[in-house]
Amino acid sequence: MTKYFHNSKPEMSKIVKIREEDEDTRTFFIKLPFTPKKPKPGQFVMLWVPGIDEFPIGVAGIRDQILELCVAKVGEGTEALFELEQGDLVGIRGFFGKAFRIKKSITHIIVGGGYGMPPLKYLIEEIIKGRTERDEIFVFEGAKTKEKLLYVELLEKWTKEKKIVFFPFTDDGSYGRKGFPTEGVKEYLNQDNKKSVVIYSAGPEKMMKILFDICRNYNYIIDIQMSLADRHMRCGFGLCGACVVDPEGLRICVDGPVFSKEQLERIADFGSYSRLPSGRKEEI
Ligand SMILES: Cc1cc2nc3c(=O)[nH]c(=O)nc-3n(C[C@H](O)[C@H](O)[C@H](O)COP(=O)(O)OP(=O)(O)OC[C@H]3O[C@@H](n4cnc5c(N)ncnc54)[C@H](O)[C@@H]3O)c2cc1C
Ligand code: FES
Repeated sequence: MTKYFHNSKPEMSKIVKIREEDEDTRTFFIKLPFTPKKPKPGQFVMLWVPGIDEFPIGVAGIRDQILELCVAKVGEGTEALFELEQGDLVGIRGFFGKAFRIKKSITHIIVGGGYGMPPLKYLIEEIIKGRTERDEIFVFEGAKTKEKLLYVELLEKWTKEKKIVFFPFTDDGSYGRKGFPTEGVKEYLNQDNKKSVVIYSAGPEKMMKILFDICRNYNYIIDIQMSLADRHMRCGFGLCGACVVDPEGLRICVDGPVFSKEQLERIADFGSYSRLPSGRKEEI
């Protein structure tokens, strides 16, 4: 029987496997104490490292009780997580936030980079599972170098199996094309393509704003869904105000992190301002 998490109390869960992705990125496979109601791609958990800190991490996958989280080491909390080993316990609260909404029988264009890729990997898995003959999936991933591109083997394998078409980009040209994934998307959109398209994106907010400005004027793009997860959070469920964006006071943790084209048009902070942990705004 499936069970729901409690919003405010972490469920202690065991790390059962750790996979190294690159020198400061690891995937943690975490056994939950029960089989939860399945999260949707784009949703996140609050991951508590006992005695240190709690922080938001996007769901990268789930199978029965085993939750997959891919984490980059950037500061005190994530450094403490990297000290943990197989068998150690962490606390999990979730699943929080609005997910990507998967449309049917269309062209799916998925664009990501950095820790935007784990939720997008889960999204691609779910689109593949439910796809019809009329679904096409194009994946554009960008990273600084080859080492920083996540899920390359898997995405190349799915391309060979004709499930997706994968376009990798690196800043230094060490893998795929040299340049940014936004350039690849622009070229693709300029081809004569009359099919309905949905854009899904997660990653650095600057990249997503550039992508949004490229995509907003094509009339065959029926939606643009972007995850504004490149921001600070505290409570994760709408109480503290740490993640509020102007001018309407949308909270990234409950009204997002995935927003639609109409919502993104109205978020003045999108691509320009984020909040420091103190709550003060700073330019992105
Ligand atoms: C909805 C959501 C989903 C996320 N999913 C993932 C994920 O799947 N994998 C992953 O590795 N990270 C993810 N993050 C980011 C992750 O929460 C932060 O990297 C983490 O909180 C950093 O904690 P720390 O204590 O190690 O670093 P801190 O000491 O808190 O910060 C270290 C540095 O990281 C920056 N930083 C902290 N939090 C964020 C943030 N939210 N966005 C951008 N920069 C930040 C700080 O400005 C600082 O420069 C997600 C964030 C959100 C809001
Ligand atoms: S993190 Fe507290 S309101 Fe969003």
